Amino acid sequence: TPFVIAIDGPSGSGKSSVSRAVASSVGGGYLDTGAMYRALTWRCLHDEVDLQDPEAISAAALSLPLEMGDDPSAPSVHVGGTDVAEAIRSSGISSRVSRVATVPAVRTEMQRRQRALIEDIAARRGTCVAEGRDITTVVAPDAPVRILLTASQEARLRRRSLEVHGASDEAAIAATRDQVVRRDQDDSTVSQFTVAADGVVAVDTSDLDFDGSVEAVLTVVRA
Ligand code: CDP
Repeated sequence: TPFVIAIDGPSGSGKSSVSRAVASSVGGGYLDTGAMYRALTWRCLHDEVDLQDPEAISAAALSLPLEMGDDPSAPSVHVGGTDVAEAIRSSGISSRVSRVATVPAVRTEMQRRQRALIEDIAARRGTCVAEGRDITTVVAPDAPVRILLTASQEARLRRRSLEVHGASDEAAIAATRDQVVRRDQDDSTVSQFTVAADGVVAVDTSDLDFDGSVEAVLTVVRA
């Protein structure tokens, strides 16, 4: 029977890299739901949609020609045939994505697409690992495995800083801190990561390296 593994967590928890490794390890498909909100943000900027106008953003969401690849070793994202996988990681997108993702009609539309994609990926590949911020609670609350990846703010800043600046010295961490703290605040209506919801297993990765984090998640999957 098709199997769904739902993983939520904040930025710097290791969510994306760990989810991809878990999907590869179990031979399943992968869905990065954050990439979907990023792709919509990219589209809005590309089409000069007014980000102060929730109705215009919602219209863009409803008509978004989005294609998500499901290969965990090469996650692809296309908007209207354009490969945006790299462009959606820019700081311009990162700083604006929360504004787009907190529009209620946008969430309804994205969650609807995500449920359909998860069902399709699980049916085709046997397992779907879906990661984001509301997968364990809203998108796939009935998934047989639901995990919240947590990490101390210190560990999150260190990882994020390495990702974005290629360094985790004091200056790089300071430069990262503002962005991470701001996005946590901007996202706070979508998700709070202090406690795991009922039935969701919390995995704290603060003191784990990448392999250790993957192993910890696989242990929950196998249990
Ligand atoms: O880059 P990072 O890991 O921090 O985030 P992401 O997973 O790429 O998600 C980017 C943004 O999309 C988040 O900051 C949220 O605003 C939004 N998001 C969401 O609202 N719901 C999800 N299920 C996933 C992401």
